[in-house]
Amino acid sequence: MQILSDIDLKGLNTFHIDASARYFAEVFSVDDILELQNDKLFRENKKLVLGGGSNLLLTKDFDGMVVKVSIPGIVLEREDEHHYYVKVSAGVVWHEFVLYCIAHGYAGVENLSLIPGQTGAAPMQNIGAYGVELKDVCVRVEGVHIETGEVIEFTAADCEFGYRESVFKNRLKNQFVITAVHFRLNKEPRFNVSYGDIKATLDDMKVFDLSIKAISDAVVKIRSSKLPDPAVLGNAGSFFKNPTVSFEKCNELIGKYPLIPHYPQAAGDVKLPAGWLIEQCGWKGKRVGNTGSHAKQALVLVNYGDATGHEVYQLAMNIRQSVMDKFGVEMNPEVNLV
Ligand code: EPU
Repeated sequence: MQILSDIDLKGLNTFHIDASARYFAEVFSVDDILELQNDKLFRENKKLVLGGGSNLLLTKDFDGMVVKVSIPGIVLEREDEHHYYVKVSAGVVWHEFVLYCIAHGYAGVENLSLIPGQTGAAPMQNIGAYGVELKDVCVRVEGVHIETGEVIEFTAADCEFGYRESVFKNRLKNQFVITAVHFRLNKEPRFNVSYGDIKATLDDMKVFDLSIKAISDAVVKIRSSKLPDPAVLGNAGSFFKNPTVSFEKCNELIGKYPLIPHYPQAAGDVKLPAGWLIEQCGWKGKRVGNTGSHAKQALVLVNYGDATGHEVYQLAMNIRQSVMDKFGVEMNPEVNLV
């Protein structure tokens, strides 16, 4: 196992932040991880597990070991009358898995098209888009304990999935390298076009016969039209989670801002779109030095070229404060701050 020193991470995070790692190793199998664990440098340094680097803001150089997970492989393990059971290794690029499913007629992930990142990172924050979340299709997660080397299987319930949350971001933070994710996909598609943009886009595309391919194409079209391509403009997707407030607080806000979009949740609280709150505070499309809020989606912060992680972080905190000052609503980052 080769351990490199002083590696530039700019090409390994979609924000394109110029930060370095004191040590760096890339693993291509579970055995590679186990081998790495015998190494003194691994044992004596703090670790950062890296997938596609697409949900990460590096606020400074990382004074430890970055472990890049590049385990390949998609395997159909079994099928029954209604489902396909597929194991996807952590290093598989998420959208390549989605395309694989569409080519093979495995339904369930088409709404999650074009989400940047690797499959191993998907359970961390229970990726979601257009009315579907990873938790709807994920049945098991495999991981290796970072200190002990113990290989563990987590059921979906063990993962404690929530809105952009899982046990891996909370109680088990920094404890496991996720090595594979198991999916249960449908033989008969259950189309989910409840998210407004999808229906309108399918109409625009003149799609009359729904298919998982058509939904995927519509999602790709929507995402490409408003989310900046990280290959062109550094970003990590939504920077904050959409905040939830109490029913009473929401009513108070509606009294003051009758046009505020609001989405009542099953638990009785109400979700507010962070993009709207940020836009109302005047940040949408605003550039501050090398960073800014994207002109087509205020919730996405971008790096215009040479932004430091600290600069992006400062902007994020200023945005957060102005939303707090104007609306009394607290927004929390969705992106992992390192
Ligand atoms: N809005 C504005 N101004 C903006 C952006 C949004 O007013 O600049 C308001 C509008 O009312 C709009 C609503 O916010 O209808 C929702 O916007 P959008 O459909 O773009 O979705 P979002 O809530 O901003 C979430 C996810 C995205 C996901 C989309 C589609 C979070 C934090 N973000 O964004 O996920 O693609 O829904 O399902 O939940 C990501 O996590 O990185 C990500 C991109």
